[in-house]
Amino acid sequence: MRHLRVPSDQTQVWLHRCRQEGWLSKASVLQLDEGMRGIPLLDEAPDDEDERWQGHSIVQREPKQQGPSHWTDRLPTPLRALPHEIWPSAYEIQGDVLMVKLEADAWEHQHAIAQAMLDQLPNVRIVCADKGVTGDFRVRELTTLASRDGTLSTRTRIREHGTAMWVDPSEAYFSARLSTQRQDTLERLQSFRQQLGRALVVADPYAGVGPALPLLLAEPDLLSGYLVGDLNPKAVDLLTLNLATWSAKHETDLSPSLLVCDDARAWQHDPSRRGFADALLVNLPHDSLTHLPALLPILNQAEQRLLRGWAIIERAALAQTKEDLITMIEGTGATAESVEVEEIKGFSTTRCFIAFNAILAWK
Ligand SMILES: C[S@@+](CC[C@H](N)C(=O)[O-])C[C@H]1O[C@@H](n2cnc3c(N)ncnc32)[C@H](O)[C@@H]1O
Repeated sequence: MRHLRVPSDQTQVWLHRCRQEGWLSKASVLQLDEGMRGIPLLDEAPDDEDERWQGHSIVQREPKQQGPSHWTDRLPTPLRALPHEIWPSAYEIQGDVLMVKLEADAWEHQHAIAQAMLDQLPNVRIVCADKGVTGDFRVRELTTLASRDGTLSTRTRIREHGTAMWVDPSEAYFSARLSTQRQDTLERLQSFRQQLGRALVVADPYAGVGPALPLLLAEPDLLSGYLVGDLNPKAVDLLTLNLATWSAKHETDLSPSLLVCDDARAWQHDPSRRGFADALLVNLPHDSLTHLPALLPILNQAEQRLLRGWAIIERAALAQTKEDLITMIEGTGATAESVEVEEIKGFSTTRCFIAFNAILAWK
């Protein structure tokens, strides 16, 4: 069957075009050589040399028939007769690592589940059982169930907002679910930059692998410097790797450009970190509010400063949290020009995940 050979990032565009023109066959898209895909064509599609292919070549390949639509359809036949509730209804993929939570009934079928998932999802390299996050570093307890190529590392590269980032769910915290928060951070820093009329120094002392940073670094003239760090040395290794790539694209030198492995509460005692930041991110949701008094000295206590953080609180304490933030801000001698506390999502029946945003002003 004829296939149109296109770069993988143009697959959706050409699929759409071929479907609209009535040229698309029902067979599956093929993975061709490095970074190329083959779009299956009907006989009615234009000749190989037609200019409507815009210079893309046509190759002959065996058609790949559509496979099952769900991984459970790939389980061995006897298992498919079991009640559907046994099988996990959700999983999470970071890069080429798939993490799945298994209920007690599913454990005895762990290898069949993992193999069915590998068969269904060609971009997954390793399937792990996810027993949840543990400890202060919020890393996942993962057990490998199957690996496509025998490699067991859970270090992998993901893309977010168009930027590649190294992550390792068994070594450092990362959640793709917070990507809209990171977009929001960019927007808030952009408007704060306009307010101050100059580029900003941002501090992210609970940076993890650094997901807040690429959007900020990519924005021209937004940052003049950064102070970032994490207490987890393995997160700092990934952060170092990521920052080296992101900073290489930056045209101007940023100062300060500091990366530390340290307890955020200790930053206030280091003269190279105390009083340097114009904007402070506080992302340790279980403890953000208790740590905050030790973090505010990181801000340069002059004119206006921006504080943005995330916390898990009792829903009934939403109003009280705003009052607590004002008290903490005033405790530094600043005025709280604005304080917003916004519920992002429910966390349990009584607790919720919030974002807080404040503008502090020192006279
Ligand atoms: C919820 S994660 C946030 C990570 C990152 N900002 C993100 O959005 O993916 C909290 C991070 O704080 C780190 N951490 C925990 N306690 C810390 C402390 N006392 N000082 C600095 N970092 C800490 C953890 O290792 C973890 O990477």
